[in-house]
Amino acid sequence: MCGIVGYVGENQAAPILLDGLYKLEYRGYDSAGIAVYGEEGIKVAKARGRLKILDEMTHGGAMLPGTAGIGHTRWATHGAPNDVNAHPHFNRDESIVVVHNGIIENYLKLKKKLEGKGYQFCSETDTEVVAQLLDYYYDGDPLKAITKIMHRMEGSYALGILFKDHPGTVYAVRKDSPLIVGHGQGGNLIASDVPAVLKYTRSVYFIENEEIAKLTKDDITFYNIDEEVLVKEPSEIGWDISAAEKGGYEHFMLKEIYEQPKAIADTLNPRLKDGRIVIEELKMDDEEIRQIHKIFIVACGSAYHTGVTSKYVFEGLARIPTEVDLASEFRYRNPILDEHTLVVIISQSGETADSLAALRLAKSQGVRTLGIVNVVGSSIAREADNVMYTWAGPEIAVATTKAYSTQLIAQYLLALKFAQARRMLPEEELAGYIADLRKIPDQVEMVLGNKEKIQKFANRYLAAKDIFFIGRGIDYAISMEGSLKLKEISYIHSDAYAAGELKHGTISLIEEGTLVVAVLTQAELYKKTISNMVEVRSRGAFVMAVTNSGNQEVEKTADFVIYIPETNRYFTNSLAIIPLQMFGYYVALGKGCDVDKPRNLAKSVTVE
Ligand code: AGP
Repeated sequence: MCGIVGYVGENQAAPILLDGLYKLEYRGYDSAGIAVYGEEGIKVAKARGRLKILDEMTHGGAMLPGTAGIGHTRWATHGAPNDVNAHPHFNRDESIVVVHNGIIENYLKLKKKLEGKGYQFCSETDTEVVAQLLDYYYDGDPLKAITKIMHRMEGSYALGILFKDHPGTVYAVRKDSPLIVGHGQGGNLIASDVPAVLKYTRSVYFIENEEIAKLTKDDITFYNIDEEVLVKEPSEIGWDISAAEKGGYEHFMLKEIYEQPKAIADTLNPRLKDGRIVIEELKMDDEEIRQIHKIFIVACGSAYHTGVTSKYVFEGLARIPTEVDLASEFRYRNPILDEHTLVVIISQSGETADSLAALRLAKSQGVRTLGIVNVVGSSIAREADNVMYTWAGPEIAVATTKAYSTQLIAQYLLALKFAQARRMLPEEELAGYIADLRKIPDQVEMVLGNKEKIQKFANRYLAAKDIFFIGRGIDYAISMEGSLKLKEISYIHSDAYAAGELKHGTISLIEEGTLVVAVLTQAELYKKTISNMVEVRSRGAFVMAVTNSGNQEVEKTADFVIYIPETNRYFTNSLAIIPLQMFGYYVALGKGCDVDKPRNLAKSVTVE
């Protein structure tokens, strides 16, 4: 939610800021702005709408000359997306300017106090309060003013700040919102995420909570909230900028759909050694695993959907009771946790506010936690007791595909590891599951071969009003994700139902021509789901089915069928989700939607 960048160095700042913001636009895209410190002081340009508008308005940044600056791309929280609320925000005499990602929860109280002291505000944002609060405490020493406001602000923030009295210097500070510092040749940078700095450097510092960074052309100094200097080591990023570019694809989403075989293999292969499952990051021996009597999987959105699948996998393979919770519910429902519980938090970004809060809740009760996270060095990765990375690489499209697929793989591995330690699987069966895992990348590749067929079919549904997805067991979990993929990018209303539930109300929504997508990958449930397909079909529905190859029987009831290759009953999600991702993508493409940046959404949801 919102992306921030900053640069100070030998080069013109504005083009570098705009370039960095393009890489962060996935974080929010309802307005954008930059502030550059030039010969005439600090100049700001901002505009409602996509970054392209700001880029054109400033002639690629040429209208704001200067070698130090900060920038922002916004996902509105406080105040409508308009020019006034767009960042950066000035203090009263325009000598301090701020960009912000996060939410200052006590901003109204602070605003009232400042108003009492004569301050006036022009925007509805919490960020303007930060700028004015800095003004209030500033006596010529930026570091002192920053630490003072840190004591006053509640909530989350990553801030980039320029002070008119301190040319050639960018200040940054964070609490519960991501921020990294890039150490470049002839200049240094700040950013909400790594892709924004990769063109200039692979050497980055991860700023911890309540740490401050002071950047000049040649130096980076870190401080804690007591203004003490900190010594930090940079990390080398293992991938280059091409991983975060479209590489000839029309959209990041399509590129990421096609990257799934590799992402799955990268997540899988390092954990399969000599026919065994080795998850070193788990840091639990078999005896410790046997001490776990219950697993809670906690996540949001698509990551939650992977957990819904994994409940069946953990319970089926390892026979361990598993609960799945939406993080936003878990954190407020007073869950029963004890020393025999493992809480698994799943998150692509590692920054999702609700998931982070759920993690902290579990930790505060002394419960063992494991993060399954994609973004290296993110908050959940750092704060969980142990972290198992999904090696999907950077995922830019708002609608997740390859991160989702790798989250499934990480959980299959974990479930098999638990099954092995709990002696629930004879060796030959375990070997069979491992052999099935190894086949998944190639099988995904095969399913991707249905592209033309799916695109043609999708084009028939561009004007659809409602599309329903149904399935039972793991097929219900697959349906939930298929439905989310479609609605988040195509804006067509869609819902997923446990197939047996339709007749308890939802079936009244079926009209002549309504598309119902049925997922049938669980052989023991085929007949049950087929009955539900018959029910909707006899009320006028058109039925698309996704099923295992060999289940030709379904053609008697479905109007359009996509077959997936044979695997065991637990791993079918990895194959069946592919046609549903493609269906969502091609419907959105056909409707002319902005596939990578759907309206009202942002890639990482760092607000509650
Ligand atoms: C899915 O396509 C989403 N954009 C969304 O549901 C996402 O999975 C959710 O916000 C969780 O994000 P995270 O994995 O970064 O925690």
